[in-house]
Amino acid sequence: MKTFVSSTLAVALLVAPILAWAQTSRPEADYKWARMDGEFAAALAAQGSAPVGKVGYESCVGCHLASGAGRSDGSIPQLAGQHATVLIKQMADIRKGVRDNPSMLPYARQLTDAQGLADVAAYIESLCVPPNHGRYEGADLAQQVAAGKTLYQGQCKGCHGANGAGHAAKFYPVIAGQHYKYLLRQMTEIRDGKRRNANPEMVEVIKPYTNEQLVAISAYQASLAMPGASCRLRNAGPATK
Ligand code: HEC
Ligand code: HEC
Repeated sequence: MKTFVSSTLAVALLVAPILAWAQTSRPEADYKWARMDGEFAAALAAQGSAPVGKVGYESCVGCHLASGAGRSDGSIPQLAGQHATVLIKQMADIRKGVRDNPSMLPYARQLTDAQGLADVAAYIESLCVPPNHGRYEGADLAQQVAAGKTLYQGQCKGCHGANGAGHAAKFYPVIAGQHYKYLLRQMTEIRDGKRRNANPEMVEVIKPYTNEQLVAISAYQASLAMPGASCRLRNAGPATK
């Protein structure tokens, strides 16, 4: 009896951490797109403070830059100009592990709680839209943009809007004026099921698209300007005579 109890205990001690690991390492098992719960819902409900968020944003500057412009090579997305609701959803998903982002995860974890997420989102939302971003650079730019526009208007504009401005209340990101290579990477990963937090309706829509078609749509969206107050306007200051 004694050995039975102790071996059962030993098995339980061995199994418990494995079960706990399985639960934390496969969070997508019960992931439902944009379900209003946990940190995500709390951050959306919180009143974000841009001045407090500026301090939280300091750990993001190394990659996303102080301007929020990211990198024009597409390795790091532009955040300035993105809807606060989208920023909050993506940060919460990255923290939860349902959107893979190993390089950013330690920094995302430095944001303490839902209020911290709301603050940093409020700060990013206060930034002006940087004047330059990565674009498609091929000699056939005009043809790509024209082809991409036709494709975009067919099946994407219903959600991302006539000009790629997205929809804040529905968590549809702004894609106009985002870096070309980032757009292409995200579209490919969403199509191929690698961005696990993606909207399931979008996944269905984008599945049949070829790589060439995604290049064209990315070239088109990157040829547009991101909506919002541009830094050029903000830096122009009062007119002088
Ligand atoms: C080590 C570099 C790095 C740091 C530091 C970093 N990020 Fe990121 N971030 C990335 C990368 C790379 C991506 C895009 C990942 C991908 O391709 O899916 C990203 C994506 C994002 C996105 C999603 C954007 C979108 O359009 O979907 C948000 C929001 C974001 N980061 C916010 C932050 C905030 C806030 C901080 C600071 C707390 C931060 N990041 C720090 C590298 C970084
Ligand atoms: C049913 C609405 C819907 C449709 C249709 C749709 N999308 Fe999306 N798209 C979304 C949502 C929602 C997200 C954000 C997903 C998430 O929560 O991570 C997204 C994300 C994206 C992103 C990543 C943006 C970023 O900042 O990381 C790109 C690029 C994109 N969509 C392009 C497209 C293209 C191109 C099409 C047409 C082929 C399309 N979408 C059709 C809803 C849609």
